[in-house]
Amino acid sequence: MTSGALRARTWQLLDILADGDFHSGEVLAQHLGVSRASIFNALDGAADCGITVQRVRGRGYRLARAWQPLRRDEILGQLGGDAGLFDIEIVPEADSTNTSLLQRASLGAPGGSVVVAELQRAGRGRLGRTWHSGLGNALTFSLLWRFDRGLNALSGLSLAVGVAIVRALDQAGARGVGLKWPNDIVSEQGKLGGVLIEAQGDMLGPSAVVIGVGLNCHLPGALSKNIDQPACGLDELCAEMPERNRLLALLLRELAAVLRQFGQDGFAPFRGEWERRHLHRDKEIRLCLADGSAVDGIARGAGDGGELLLETVQGMRSFNSGEVGGRR
Ligand code: BTN
Repeated sequence: MTSGALRARTWQLLDILADGDFHSGEVLAQHLGVSRASIFNALDGAADCGITVQRVRGRGYRLARAWQPLRRDEILGQLGGDAGLFDIEIVPEADSTNTSLLQRASLGAPGGSVVVAELQRAGRGRLGRTWHSGLGNALTFSLLWRFDRGLNALSGLSLAVGVAIVRALDQAGARGVGLKWPNDIVSEQGKLGGVLIEAQGDMLGPSAVVIGVGLNCHLPGALSKNIDQPACGLDELCAEMPERNRLLALLLRELAAVLRQFGQDGFAPFRGEWERRHLHRDKEIRLCLADGSAVDGIARGAGDGGELLLETVQGMRSFNSGEVGGRR
């Protein structure tokens, strides 16, 4: 999804059509003070971004699937006493919220800055992968956090972030959510979410991290066929799907709590909880390394610095990078 940005008018219309109902071209044109042809043209561009707008003669336009636009006020309301910790910007679209927040961080943006994109066009994943999502069917956001400590004190951070996300999803009513090392959010059905952490600063401090979170709320077939592994949406794990603004507030609140504690105590307080939610705990796995080689062993949890502990035929080994897969 890398075509040009949608026009402001298209976004106005997508907001009105978010309810999933039919809206006549005439009423939309009157409402925006433009011609019916302008409405047609503005909605025509949405298809390039994977957004299906249905047009039925005599009834008007509607989206193939309703969506819940994010509202800053609602998110702040849900955050309650924690609202002051965050500076939230919701953008209709971005190539990558991590990229845009990294730029802001280098210009001095404060810790707690958040960029959320309704439509992320070129989301970046770990190990150079692409993160796929569509309008309204995911949460794609990045949070900037500043630490007094240096980068060398942040080992295990990515696992602690996974713990924060699982806590938030528990509160949102999701069932069967676990973690795959280092911080994939998973269920038996497949990958639900991912985290991309990018750091700035010195080894000795201070430091800053941009924590990018992508969470599938609903995974349409057209999207899952672009994903190179089993994946699922939160709606498959919740009896009642949590409202998107509330879900984002839950995630931000848990992230802030974990990051504050991590800033003082490091990964140690989260290690037990991470291990309890570890999908591959005591299971045989294969760890694929960056050089193309692979190591087989039994996953024995995480070390003090968040490294993966693998019991192999050569004894216990620890790894700081790699991609965990099932044993072939
Ligand atoms: C992964 O599992 O590979 C990590 C995926 C991280 C995706 C999120 S979506 C918001 C933020 N912006 C990005 O470009 N990536 C992260």
